Amino acid sequence: MADARPEMPMFPMARATGCPFDPSPELSRRLEDAPVSRVRLWDGSTPWMVTRYADVRAVLADPRVSVDVAQPGFPHTNAVSKARDAHMKTLMQMDAPEHITQRRLLTSDFMIRRMEALRPRIQRIVDDLIDEMLAGPNPVDLVEAFALPVPSLVICELLGAPYTARDLFHRVSRTLVMDEPDPEQAMAASEELNAYLEELVDRKNAEPGDDVFSRLAVEQYRTGAMTRREIATAGQLLLVAGHDTTATMIALGTAALLAHPDQLRAVRDDDPALVANAAEELLRYLSITHTEARRVAREDLEIGGRLIRKGEGIIVVKSIANRDPSAFPDPDTLDVRRRARHHVAFGFGAHQCLGQSLARVELQVVYSTLYRRIPTLALAVPLEQLTFKESAVFYGVRELPVTW
Ligand code: HEM
Repeated sequence: MADARPEMPMFPMARATGCPFDPSPELSRRLEDAPVSRVRLWDGSTPWMVTRYADVRAVLADPRVSVDVAQPGFPHTNAVSKARDAHMKTLMQMDAPEHITQRRLLTSDFMIRRMEALRPRIQRIVDDLIDEMLAGPNPVDLVEAFALPVPSLVICELLGAPYTARDLFHRVSRTLVMDEPDPEQAMAASEELNAYLEELVDRKNAEPGDDVFSRLAVEQYRTGAMTRREIATAGQLLLVAGHDTTATMIALGTAALLAHPDQLRAVRDDDPALVANAAEELLRYLSITHTEARRVAREDLEIGGRLIRKGEGIIVVKSIANRDPSAFPDPDTLDVRRRARHHVAFGFGAHQCLGQSLARVELQVVYSTLYRRIPTLALAVPLEQLTFKESAVFYGVRELPVTW
């Protein structure tokens, strides 16, 4: 434990000064000085922190590494996530073979082909929201008026939840991913959502449609393969994982482009094919999944020349790996023409994001539409006045006042 560095900032994007789109300098320095080293957490534990791109991928692909939150050395983000993990087990907390079986139940719903088929519907949702925004007050907060409703509407559509559920989804996922959540509030929100989703399983069982919950109700619940509770838990994961993430990428991505006008111009005015590339580069550059990937070693393993022993926690810092110059030359520059698709913003290995094809289609539609339809879009306040969610699960802007 000779290199345990006490009290490192836990949230890589948290910083007192500097560019709001860059990870903290202390953590960035680790890439050079101590790419595999210890960090002290809120509960006094000292898991390993892994920062290099190659090491990050090696950990995430290693079957000797576990996501089992019940293991004593597991590096929990905070007391709330520890309590919630003890109470609810989703795909994200399952190891093989259980993980393989459960993930297989959902993979067909998130295949690229299916997500591409949703593109026209997503385009309609985005166009309608832009129409509403243009007809409303100017300036407006882009987070409330646009970034949050896009994934809310898409996820309602996908799950087969009525549009009226949007407010509930919105409120609950906000409570679950906010900074310094109140444990009781978080538990109550999670229970409320579960109760709603369990009832939705019943409704879909009685009257199935063409959506994820209907399929799970008919194929899994009716046959006794899954309980209502298990399906509700899967629904909760999809909601929480797919709502604030995409909303954050829409708002923070827009803030980053507005702060880099040459890049915004390229996305808006150049070949439309550039948009898909720009989405990957923004995912890399912003690396919003701020609590990073957390694991515990099931066996001794060597990573980057360091021995990690069985039972020791590992935090994989994707945001620093996505700025590793050995994988991305000149990594601190936002360059929408760069080939960045090999980034680890969606994770890597068995647990890599199940919804990445959906997220890609949503972001491509948004980035290809918003700036073309509102070419004069601009920040309504100086960049320095924006406030950022520095210790939330996802790093983003709290509000994005824009004008046109
Ligand atoms: C820009 C948007 C998104 C980002 C940056 C993102 C990021 C991630 C990351 C990094 C992981 C891996 C976590 C780990 O290794 O511990 C993950 C897993 C996951 N994501 Fe996403 N995600 C996004 C959108 C979505 C959407 C739209 C959905 C679905 C509606 C979704 C569903 C999931 C699920 C179910 C998992 C768990 C997979 C597993 O454990 O096997 N995500 N996501």
